[in-house]
Parts: sequence; structure tokens; C-alpha cells
Amino acid sequence: MAEQAPGKVNMDKLVSLCKRRGYIFPSSEIYGGLGACYDYGPLGVELKNNVKACWWKAVVQERDDMVGLDASILMHPQTWVASGHVGGFADSLVDCKECRKRWRADDVKDGKCPDCGGELTEPRMFNLMFKTFVGAVEDEAGTVYLRPETAQGIFVNFQNVLNSTRRKLPFGIAQIGKAFRNEITTGNFIFRTREFEQMEIEYFVKPGSDEELFQYWVEERFDWYVSLGIKKENLRLHQHTEDELAHYAKECYDIEYLFPIGWSEMEGIANRTDFDLRQHTSYSGKDLSYYDEESKEHIIPYVIEPSAGVDRSVLAFLADAYDEEQDKDEVRVILRLHPALAPIKVAILPLSRNEKLLPLSKEIYTDLRRYWMVQYDNAQSIGRRYRRQDEIGTPLCVTIDFDSLEDNAVTIRERDSMRQIRVPVKELKSTLDAKLNGEPFEVLPPGGTKWLGFED
Ligand code: GAP
Repeated sequence: MAEQAPGKVNMDKLVSLCKRRGYIFPSSEIYGGLGACYDYGPLGVELKNNVKACWWKAVVQERDDMVGLDASILMHPQTWVASGHVGGFADSLVDCKECRKRWRADDVKDGKCPDCGGELTEPRMFNLMFKTFVGAVEDEAGTVYLRPETAQGIFVNFQNVLNSTRRKLPFGIAQIGKAFRNEITTGNFIFRTREFEQMEIEYFVKPGSDEELFQYWVEERFDWYVSLGIKKENLRLHQHTEDELAHYAKECYDIEYLFPIGWSEMEGIANRTDFDLRQHTSYSGKDLSYYDEESKEHIIPYVIEPSAGVDRSVLAFLADAYDEEQDKDEVRVILRLHPALAPIKVAILPLSRNEKLLPLSKEIYTDLRRYWMVQYDNAQSIGRRYRRQDEIGTPLCVTIDFDSLEDNAVTIRERDSMRQIRVPVKELKSTLDAKLNGEPFEVLPPGGTKWLGFED
């Protein structure tokens, strides 16, 4: 009898796997944690780095029309006046006069505290930006903000990038970095946190070409998630209605993912028009125009902004990869992560702890770790070790057995199909390379092993 039937992904299963296997921990847990802050563990940091690296490769490395930037988190406070954040980046809040709990006004239904039913204060606006101070004196003059989005670091550097790279429109600037928001309604694990990371593009275009390039970026960004293994049926586009549109946007689409909490925004693509460059021109007094050689005119470019959350993408990749299947008497938990995202690419598993297997196993391990994140594991039974690697999403396992000492060949096991092939050690690296890059494992009879690189 199966102890537990295979089921669907839910948030509890994800949170528990992430904690158990070292993907994500609650922040400062030994002190009871800090609301809506999380720490990425040994596997989580690899996954997150891989998500960022894949994004950077797709939007900077492989394109002629994009460059990167890494602006500071603390910026001149006028930045946030010009952007509209000081004036308008706020939620309407109410406080319970009885239990003192604070609520977003639009989360309260009947004018009573949802927790204790107590009377509520009048709504008042609460700015979501975190304030801090530069210098020794904590006064108004030294007040700065932790950036609530990375975008403004790009706008204020528009002229610097233009002058130093001599780009022609259309071109874009990409940036990955931390952003901070003192969110009132948090929860849902890493979906909405107070400290998070964004991957943002500001793509500068000639006015008039904005609508076409907006559509282009919506498709481009949608396809990026699919190319990294997210199932198409779990993705959809949501077009902002008039009411939903931000004050600076002409048009906006959200790429939504079917998270365990339901359809929710993962990335927004907005046509921000020339709003930001005009605002910064007027607040800084600096010329942020672009000289168009064709029309011989100075123009203020329009901006298309694909703005993605690193943490939300990580959550979506984890949720989409999570799978359970019945395997004999047990439920096999598998993270079917795309190999480009998997924290560990290859696990080296000597069949047993027998000392005879050690030299060859270590030799292979030492060689392969020069290319990928590779894990060596010789504890417990081989079956349990396969399970562990399946659960953390390792695409390939290499097993060294006693025959390996005779024939100098090892077995490669694929995570998703559990198919195995046997290859000579000298061809191991190139075979792993091919498999990690999508070369399929051949269909074999049950329990069959394909021998590669051997004469019949
Ligand atoms: N520059 C535009 C901008 O910041 P946004 O919709 O507020 O737009 C963009 O944020 C993305 O940043 C969101 O789609 C989401 O992925 C991520 N994000 C925003 N707030 C977040 C939070 N509190 N926790 C985690 N991710 C968040």
C-alpha cells in the first residue's frame, strides 16, 4: 500500500521542501523571523543565480541593442519626487482601535476589524518606501529611501549610457537588483516580500514605434518563461484596464502565472511613454533628450518596460517543476527544473562506500566540478540518493560501480525518465554536456541500459 498518493503542488509542500533541502529559509529564524523576509539557502542561491544569469544572457549577452547597468540602491531623494513615489506610492490604511492591527482599507469589508471586529480609524495614506538617513544626523535633510524599484536608476543614467556607448534608438538598458517596499499585505512565501529582487529593462524607442515594440516585448518575455520549461497552460496575459493602469503608463500587460495561490502577476510590461525622462528633465534641469540624426531633431524617447521579479520567477519555476509520481510503494517527489536552472547539474554517486570505488569516483568528481555545480554523495543506499537528487532537481546522476573499475565506464541516470545509459569515462563530459543541452535519452526497454561508445 502506498503511504501517500501522489498529489498536486501546493504552497505548504513547496515551503516544506525549500526548508528541508536548503532552498529557502525564513529570515533570522532563530529570533522568530522577520515578517515577509526570506533567506536563500545553498540550493536557493544557485537557482536564483541561474534565473538571473539566464535572463541576462537572453536580454543582454545575446542582443545587439541592450547594455547592462548596476546602479546604487540609495539615490538622490529628488529621484523619488520626480518619479512620483514620494507623492503617490502609498496604500490607504486603517488601524483597529481595539487590537491595534493595521489593514489595507480595500481588504476591510464591513468597516470592522477582520480579526476582532473592533472599530477602525479613518483611512490614511501610508507610503511604502523605507526611509533611512545618510550621514551622522538623522534629520529631514539627510533622508534617503531604499529604492522601491530599480527602474529609476536606469532613467537617471540614460544620458551617461547614451554618451558612453553611442547607442541609436531603439536600445535598452537592463538591470538586476534589490528593491524594498514596506508592504502591508504580505504572505504567500516569497511571492510578496519587503525585500526582493527585480530584473528590469527600460527599452528606449522613437515615439510612434512604441506600440509595435511594446507588443514585441510582451511576446519576447512570455516566450522566455516557456523556453525555461514553464508550461504554457500555466501562463497567461492580463491587459490592464483603465482603472488598473499606473499613472505613467499608456498600456500594460501582466504575465500571470498560475501560482498555488491562483493566477497572479509575475512580470509587468508597460508602455511608460516619455513620462520618466520628462519628469527627470524637469526636476534635475538636465537635458535628457536624444538627437535623432534622421529627423535632425531632439526627441524624448518613449520607454517600454518589461519588469520582472526574481523571487516570483523562482517561485514559479519551483511550482511548475514540482511533481509527484507513484514509484512502487512510495511517492517520488521530483523537481523537473530546466537543466539551465537546476542548482546541481550532476551528482556523482559511487554505488557503495567501498574504498575501491573511491579513487575513480573522486577523479570524476574533481574533473567535472570544473565545469558545473556537481555534488558528491556516498551516504545511504543508491535508491535513497537518487530520490534526494530527484527532489532537489538534479537532472543527471553518474553512478560508479564495480564494473567501472574493469571497463572504465559509468552509468548516467536521467531524473525525469529514470532512463540509464552507460558511457566510457573518457566520453562522460561530452555526453553530460549534450544531455544537459537537451539531447534526449533513448527509449529503452524497461530496465534496459544503452551502452554508448562500445564496439558491439
Ligand atoms: N518598475 C516597475 C515596477 O516596479 P511593479 O509591478 O511594481 O512594477 C514589478 O513590480 C515586478 O516586481 C512585479 O511583477 C513582481 O514580479 C515584482 N515585485 C513587486 N513587488 C514585489 C514584492 N513585494 N515582492 C516580490 N516581488 C515583487
